[in-house]
Amino acid sequence: MKITVVGAGNVGATCADVLAYREIANEIVLIDIKEGLAEGKSLDIWQKAPINLYDSRTIGSTNDYSRTAKSDVVVITSGLPRKPGMSRDDLIGTNAGIVKGVTENIVKHSPNAIVIVVSNPLDVMTYQAHITSKLPRTKVMGMAGILDTARYRAFLAEALNVSPKDIQAMILGGHGDTMVPLPRYTTVAGIPVTELIDKQKLDAIIERTKVGGGELVKLMGTSAWYAPGSAAAQMVESIVRDQRRVLPACVQLDGEYGIKNCYLGVPVILGKNGVEKIIELDLNSEEKALLETSRVHVKEVMEVLDKLGK
Ligand code: NAI
Ligand code: 2OP
Repeated sequence: MKITVVGAGNVGATCADVLAYREIANEIVLIDIKEGLAEGKSLDIWQKAPINLYDSRTIGSTNDYSRTAKSDVVVITSGLPRKPGMSRDDLIGTNAGIVKGVTENIVKHSPNAIVIVVSNPLDVMTYQAHITSKLPRTKVMGMAGILDTARYRAFLAEALNVSPKDIQAMILGGHGDTMVPLPRYTTVAGIPVTELIDKQKLDAIIERTKVGGGELVKLMGTSAWYAPGSAAAQMVESIVRDQRRVLPACVQLDGEYGIKNCYLGVPVILGKNGVEKIIELDLNSEEKALLETSRVHVKEVMEVLDKLGK
């Protein structure tokens, strides 16, 4: 299996490192526009192999897409991250052009690849990659839900003083403040979370999750990378090993949840063909209303992209 990670910055390099360390693919190409950056980080990851005992090969390239040819999966992380005070949506002008150009190069050299977008604003950059690639919607998806859900699960594990391994949860909607955490679908080893935590504490955790990305931007002056890079690698793993994991991913909805032509996070089964199935939950009226708010927000940002000329 051959995986390409575009963007050798914080998220891209972390993703490549996890892919190599966990031997998720035997060939991992890291590519960046900045001279020498991808080559240097790939070499560093390869030099870690004798210490951490893996044999996945990492190869770096400065913008030479012939090196990415015939990739099975491509992860797009290229683009600006947020600075304090910025929303993810503020990145659209710069990142749309970057994601468009990168996607054109990717499909030229790997026409059968499955594409995972990480660049922000996530839902709309997934839209950009989808329309540029002209691939079926099952082969272009965005990573955000695994990260948002991981933050929610980590906060819950801390509050309940239990292992994060035992927290199962699902978050729907766009990657932003309008995301929709679902307490009804949150369990601790199968026990509904509402039986273990009072409503006030759970509501506070949900609110913290919604601004979880911003919390890290405030602390570090840039956005997170360990959890985002690992989350993208988990999607790659489910695809290349055909694990059929049930994970949240941003996909184009075509009637599911009563929504058409909008890119939102929903639970999917990820396997060798990409999105094997979109799982439709039976939402109650409150959850439906929250998802609708998220849809309206993402749609507004999609329209900004449309006006930019895609
Ligand atoms: P970073 O600045 O560390 O890395 C971005 C890299 O992209 C840089 O090395 C830059 O040289 C490269 N790049 C820029 N234009 C390029 C092009 N045309 N071709 C190839 N490479 C190019 O940023 P970081 O922290 O890695 O974040 C990357 C993106 O991921 C940002 O847009 C950020 O907002 C987003 N992000 C999304 C998350 C999600 O949950 N979906 C989570 C975390 C970050
Ligand atoms: C995050 O949630 C900025 O989207 C990025 O960390």
